[in-house]
Amino acid sequence: MNINRMFLILLSLVLVVGIIGCVKNFTHDILSYKIKSNREIDLFIAADPHHLSKETYDDGPAFDTFLNTGDGKLLNYSGEILDAFTMDIQNRKPDIVVFAGDLTCNGERESHLELAEKLRTIKRSGTHVFVIPGNHDIENPWARNYIGDELIRIDSITSDEFVDIYSQFGYKDAISRDSDSLSYLATPSEDIWLLMLDSAKYDRNKVRDGPEMGGVLSGKTLNWIEQCGELARENNAKLVAIMHHSLLDHSPIVNENYTIENNDEAIEVLQNSGIEIILTGHVHLQDIKSHDAGGNTIYDIATSCLIAHPNQYGTLRFVPGKGFYYQTNRVNMDNWARENDTSDSNLKDFHEYSRTFFQKRSYDRYYDSLLEIGGYTDMEMQAISETIAILNLGYFGGFRNDALHHIFNTDGFKLLIESSPNFIRDYALSMFNDEKTDNNKIFIPINLNRDSTETHSGFAN
Ligand SMILES: [Fe+2]
Repeated sequence: MNINRMFLILLSLVLVVGIIGCVKNFTHDILSYKIKSNREIDLFIAADPHHLSKETYDDGPAFDTFLNTGDGKLLNYSGEILDAFTMDIQNRKPDIVVFAGDLTCNGERESHLELAEKLRTIKRSGTHVFVIPGNHDIENPWARNYIGDELIRIDSITSDEFVDIYSQFGYKDAISRDSDSLSYLATPSEDIWLLMLDSAKYDRNKVRDGPEMGGVLSGKTLNWIEQCGELARENNAKLVAIMHHSLLDHSPIVNENYTIENNDEAIEVLQNSGIEIILTGHVHLQDIKSHDAGGNTIYDIATSCLIAHPNQYGTLRFVPGKGFYYQTNRVNMDNWARENDTSDSNLKDFHEYSRTFFQKRSYDRYYDSLLEIGGYTDMEMQAISETIAILNLGYFGGFRNDALHHIFNTDGFKLLIESSPNFIRDYALSMFNDEKTDNNKIFIPINLNRDSTETHSGFAN
């Protein structure tokens, strides 16, 4: 063996040891990116698909009551909506699709297995799929069969089973996994890495009557995030985070158990790790909030629930040298209904059906709340509930401020304004004093001061 060859072997060894040393618990070859640098990347995000397998219910009163006392989710059509979303993906061919938790209704094993099958269909069409759990997905004590007028408790899944069922959708190819949660780091492309954060608190669900609704990023997870941030920086990659719970409050009124409990600390760590965008779900609201610190801004973009009106998902396009374009898109149910030649009138006129269902569920819930608050006549409660139900159609769909001014002339709104302060009045008024009027789109330019990397320098902003 000549000297040159020995030198080359030694050099390779030094490089290998160097890479292993620097990636620590980063297990896979970080250079095997599927999407090369300087390419536009299309990422779709679906939040809260809450899939419920049709194997778990029949057309009896138990399921009917469950469906018609909920928050407007079309659990009875979750499979069809997911199939229509899959058709959209097959037609539009995004590079990546992420599911930001609450994959299932109440963590039923059957629903998870069916959803994984649907994700395999998406993956076969050439789109990378990544998932994280939400508060409904693991060890959920609410998992039920709805048979006749009976509710029968059924199996949910453990966190190990979650990883097993969704191994192809992030866990198997993760270059690093957090030891304290089901968070992982995915590197589908050279320019954009995905920090998939598990904020759900399911450890004690087994001994509870219902799933823990709130979320957190533990101290250990935050340390791991810092390591991911360093690794991304060393590799000139931009980190985009995905998490189920909110990082920033999406409403001044409704935020407890929606925003993670240690968000001040988490915001600092995420910002220090170079993260400017976090895509979330959980609140079922379409809403964008931002937070500034030291000249850097972080955006929490909450995409509304896929199976509730207006049945939309988020699309995030990364354009090298420019930035990120986020906008929402409604699931094309008409296309699905036509292709499948459905005879179901709800699916044939889906958006009208979904809107009416959501509006009625809002109306009933707020009427019940007003009954509890007390002091209103029946006519007044009807008028206010009607107003809130119309407001909620716009609000959950991402509209605020001037975009909701059409409600001002209704009797219900006038009654609310004249009311003494209560939760419903505060909630309605908060819609008119919000950060953005239309939360269905935003352009976030690349922060060139911050990302003066080889990848991005040389491009005009
Ligand atoms: Fe949730």
